[in-house]
Amino acid sequence: MIPQQLISRKRDGLALAPDELRAFLRGYVAGEVAEYQMAAFLMAVVFQGLSDPELSELLDVMVSSGAVLDWPGLDRPVVDKHSTGGVGDKVSLALAPLLAEVGFAVPMISGRGLGHTGGTLDKLEALPGFRTALPLDEFNRIVRKLGLGMIGQTAEIAPLDRRLYDLRNVTGTVPVPPLMATSIMSKKMAEGLDALLLDVKVGSGAFLPDPGAARRLAELMVRLGEGRGIRTVALLTAMDRPLGETVGNALETREALDCLRGGGPGDLRELVLRQAAELVLAAEPGASGPDGLRAAMARAEEVLDSGRPMERFLRLVEAQGGDPVAVESGAWFTRAPVVDVLEASEAGTVTGVEPRGLGEAVVAMGGGRTALDQEIDARVGFRVLATPGQVLQRGQALVEIHAASPEGAELGREAAEKSIAVAPGGAGSGEALPLVVERIGA
Ligand code: URA
Repeated sequence: MIPQQLISRKRDGLALAPDELRAFLRGYVAGEVAEYQMAAFLMAVVFQGLSDPELSELLDVMVSSGAVLDWPGLDRPVVDKHSTGGVGDKVSLALAPLLAEVGFAVPMISGRGLGHTGGTLDKLEALPGFRTALPLDEFNRIVRKLGLGMIGQTAEIAPLDRRLYDLRNVTGTVPVPPLMATSIMSKKMAEGLDALLLDVKVGSGAFLPDPGAARRLAELMVRLGEGRGIRTVALLTAMDRPLGETVGNALETREALDCLRGGGPGDLRELVLRQAAELVLAAEPGASGPDGLRAAMARAEEVLDSGRPMERFLRLVEAQGGDPVAVESGAWFTRAPVVDVLEASEAGTVTGVEPRGLGEAVVAMGGGRTALDQEIDARVGFRVLATPGQVLQRGQALVEIHAASPEGAELGREAAEKSIAVAPGGAGSGEALPLVVERIGA
């Protein structure tokens, strides 16, 4: 295998044989293919895509570059979900303990905030003491004991993906469906799952705002998962506005805890229940169609409102180093030093709440990273009170801005002003996406 020949063939749109692609990828792992050659290959994939056999080979080499968990003797289906990343998406924090209580094992391996989107790990780490870096054997023990564990990608899980991801991050090759699909699925395959729910965001706040690209990504991932014996379902869900009311780590964690107590915003609760129901149907086939979905949603709702998922989350907090008493009482939460309110300057109707600008502002206010391993301030963010279609009075509160300093609050105010679109008068509500835009199954 001569790397430059293989790169040229991909550049020219010719198919690569699985064994030569495997040799190229393994050569990269072994240090025989240079970073610049891999960067050139990835850019060729941006323009030429990957055939199904190439996609499959890339995924297999990524998964086999590290450890694959298995669950011998476990008496329950092993399931997980993955979100392609959004603004205000705190679903995982409520969903994982709900799924454990429904009767699944959930070995959840999540990521940090990326670009303008938040990440589950940063939200968990807003809880003082919560450890997200656990050795795999400890993670395994916690999942077996509690039915769930929540950690970050370790050096043992799909290390080839980690290296490729870092390279993609600095070569403009992240938002590319075949590369995203293999990257996401490599980590999920390593969890040893029976069923997987993929939440693929669409709309201006998503990594792939275009519904066509989002659908292509969803279809690729469903094919890859099903092809490896994992029951895989994707939901395309709305990211033309933030999910729930809050954006920013600690605020979002608090909102997810509200959801676990049976409260919280309606859209968050609905998406948590829908994702749980889809996994019930995927892992326990038999009931399908609208009636099956309704019954599975009702079962998930009953479990959520029983309070047991919250108790299970508190046990997880304890097992992973946090303080369950502080989490239960709310004493863990530290309010940001500056809290400002943006009010409507005139009466009118909210025509849109643009998520991307809010996500970017959280990063700029110190709540996300601009460099790897940067410390973040979990306290900063927004509570967005305005919703698309809402009729406003002059002076009505639109957004609470939580900042570390007056300068941060000013930055947040500017972003909030740009994000909330208001049309004067009482008419015209703009076009909002339905919460669940589409379902893609096998
Ligand atoms: N998240 C991942 O894990 N990989 C990608 O490529 C994009 C988002």
